[in-house]
Amino acid sequence: MAKSDHVFTCQACGAIWPKWAGKCDACGEWNTLVEEAAPRSVVPGALAAAKAKGSKLAFVELAGDAEPPARLATGISEFDRVCGGGLVPASAILVGGDPGVGKSTLLLQTAAALARKGATVAYVTGEEAEAQVQDRARRLKASDANVQLAAETDLRKILDGLKTLKPDLVIVDSIQTLWADGVEAAPGTVAQVRACAHELVRFAKKTGAILILVGHVTKDGQIAGPRVVEHLVDAVIYFEGERGLPFRILRAVKNRFGPTDEIGVFEMVELGLVETPNPSALFLGENGQRASGAAVFAGVEGSRPVLVEIQALAAASAYGTPRRAIVGWDSARLAMILAVLETRCGLSFAGRDVYLSVAGGLRITEPAADLAVAAALISALTDEPLPRDCVVFGEVALSGEIRPAGRTDLRLKEAAKLGFSNALAPPQKKGAKFDLEVKQISHIADLAAALAPAPRRREAS
Ligand SMILES: Nc1ncnc2c1ncn2[C@@H]1O[C@H](COP(=O)(O)OP(=O)(O)OP(=O)(O)O)[C@@H](O)[C@H]1O
Ligand SMILES: [Mg+2]
Ligand SMILES: [Zn+2]
Repeated sequence: MAKSDHVFTCQACGAIWPKWAGKCDACGEWNTLVEEAAPRSVVPGALAAAKAKGSKLAFVELAGDAEPPARLATGISEFDRVCGGGLVPASAILVGGDPGVGKSTLLLQTAAALARKGATVAYVTGEEAEAQVQDRARRLKASDANVQLAAETDLRKILDGLKTLKPDLVIVDSIQTLWADGVEAAPGTVAQVRACAHELVRFAKKTGAILILVGHVTKDGQIAGPRVVEHLVDAVIYFEGERGLPFRILRAVKNRFGPTDEIGVFEMVELGLVETPNPSALFLGENGQRASGAAVFAGVEGSRPVLVEIQALAAASAYGTPRRAIVGWDSARLAMILAVLETRCGLSFAGRDVYLSVAGGLRITEPAADLAVAAALISALTDEPLPRDCVVFGEVALSGEIRPAGRTDLRLKEAAKLGFSNALAPPQKKGAKFDLEVKQISHIADLAAALAPAPRRREAS
């Protein structure tokens, strides 16, 4: 094949480059460019050939007359919620996640749940032998479910099998193990992953099947990451979890059929993934008196309130450049809060290593966590614990002002339900009534003042 038929494809993001380079300019990853046969569309002449046999385009009305197909609820409500209330026929979902987080477990449980409801379910694995999956099914008490299992990586064979079976749900674990003949590249490369995903999605759209693809998250660029297929599918769901913790969180990052702010919470046990319908208390750590540097954030994930402990540590730094280490929050956001505390309250963290951690392996994206982070940092610096039974929330502006956060009622109700008696919150409407005592904080300096060590505060309660 002529050299011009080859391009360099980034295995992390799928960007195509005419020349090799150490770094992909599209996504910034290093050593991810791999030489591959050029995709059809960039081979000169392919377009002209396609044009010649094109047929006339037929337009239809937006209104249409077909009823939208009913969603298929799996019965695993944490999963259904993240998908926007069940699975949509003729749609494709990508489930991504780190190795060992529990993707196969979740999908085998999903397969079994739908099969038990009478759906025809195909589970295709390219990662494991049939016996391994059967073994897992036994452990998950799912062997009774009528799931059609196949261990195969040849896309042609898989599609042929699916055409005969006519399944309602197809699970492919994982997209990176499949290969299509006619694509001149190894399994797992961008070219293969893209081609296989494309064919499978087409099958789903044509037959009305629901397609769930597993995608491994990889950083070394040896195999293509889920980013490559993200735009081909209707929904992208990530399965997350902290090593050593049993909690697993399902989060939609893209959904053509529902919102993306809902999370699903599971616990991984011997019997598989167990749903956690009321996750609010899960991320609180142990109850009672909290140490200095800990603040409870009254958060909202999607439609549900979630209370979570935020822990900060400000230790004297041994190095010239102090460390900033963060788990579960955004590093740019932490830098901003530190700058606001320094500029608006005169609290300096220079010369101190700052560690910030969100308990339970949750990752917080809400701006309303700002005030809780600020409270944890102040408390870490002064070595003075926060008031007892107190929750905190509110967004911090660069000016130091505290902006209101939505869903105040939901946050405070949940806090009261879990035994908290007071809150540090943004300014509220005059005369508003709450289930607990609310101290309104309108500026970051007010927070610092509220948390200042009182002259020998007596333990009153
Ligand atoms: N006997 C067991 N008891 C309890 N938990 C188990 C048991 N066997 C496996 N697990 C849990 O299941 C997890 C692996 O789950 P699973 O194979 O579904 O993950 P995965 O995301 O599909 O992994 P991979 O990336 O290897 O495909 C393990 O990390 C462990 O937490
Ligand atoms: Mg797996
Ligand atoms: Zn890239």
